Amino acid sequence: MHNKIVLITGGTAGIGKATAVGLAKQGYKVVIVGRDAAKAQQAVDDIKALSGTSEVEYLTADLSSQKSVRQLAADFKAKYPRLDVLINNAGAVYNKLEYSVDGIEMQIAINHMAYYLLTMELLEFMKQTSASGRIINVASHSHYGGKLNFDDLFMTKGYSGYSMYERTKLCNVLFTMELAERLKSSNITVNALHPGVVKTDIGKKHGGFLYALFWGIFAQFGMNVDKGAATSIYLASSPEVEGVSGKYWAKSKHKWHSKYSQTDGLKERLWEETEKLIK
Ligand SMILES: NC(=O)c1ccc[n+]([C@@H]2O[C@H](COP(=O)([O-])OP(=O)(O)OC[C@H]3O[C@@H](n4cnc5c(N)ncnc54)[C@H](OP(=O)(O)O)[C@@H]3O)[C@@H](O)[C@H]2O)c1
Repeated sequence: MHNKIVLITGGTAGIGKATAVGLAKQGYKVVIVGRDAAKAQQAVDDIKALSGTSEVEYLTADLSSQKSVRQLAADFKAKYPRLDVLINNAGAVYNKLEYSVDGIEMQIAINHMAYYLLTMELLEFMKQTSASGRIINVASHSHYGGKLNFDDLFMTKGYSGYSMYERTKLCNVLFTMELAERLKSSNITVNALHPGVVKTDIGKKHGGFLYALFWGIFAQFGMNVDKGAATSIYLASSPEVEGVSGKYWAKSKHKWHSKYSQTDGLKERLWEETEKLIK
């Protein structure tokens, strides 16, 4: 047994919930983030029952809102003595151009800005409270199709939900690689991963009827959530990856991220543009 604490966003459903079960079984104290208190409490009860443990709690936040992300970080620091693993996992697919309360395109707000802001708000705390902290960013194979246009980051001209999703998953990879550079001489590692194609409801929540239908059929050929959580659990807990940072993973193996994501100056430019979007 150990006293390590893991914070998992998007722990109320899908891959995040299965990751919570896997890490609770390994003796981690697990804190999940949900945007709805009743749903989060139900998830906590399910995770306790499935893992046979009692050290599972929740905090609430709407990750599309920067104010709410900041409050989440403050709540975590006020309530818990340490942070050993942060898993930025919550994600969404929006079929239409929608904006967050901060005026940011929704997929960028949830899939990228929340990863960035929550990490930045918790970084010093993690450095001070964990001997070897791990940050894990759930990205996707979809990042291979992503290309960024800094002149129209929100894709206001000819919005495509899936194309925007690819871009936000590329942002996860670029953020991971730049953060790894910045954390080189610290006690914190950061890695990104593709969980596989996993049978969850991600494509059904904010798409139109046709997109939901397509995802419903496509996802049936995917793996179950337990398999989908395996790489997140591996990166959070395996001694094999102690000290390993700045890598992209799939099936618990190191894999090369897209050639485009290795373009000189791209990850630095995204960092600058992200900072400009922080209120
Ligand atoms: N499924 C796949 O095949 C696949 C493939 C590659 C990558 N991924 C990545 O895996 C991650 C998890 O996806 P999933 O498939 O497990 O999806 P999911 O079942 O829909 O779970 C997504 C989680 O994120 C939460 N979330 C979404 N918007 C939020 C917001 N504004 N505030 C707070 N929480 C929010 C959801 O909360 P609610 O329960 O309240 O909706 C849910 O807990 C995502 O980053 C996704 O991009 C998935």
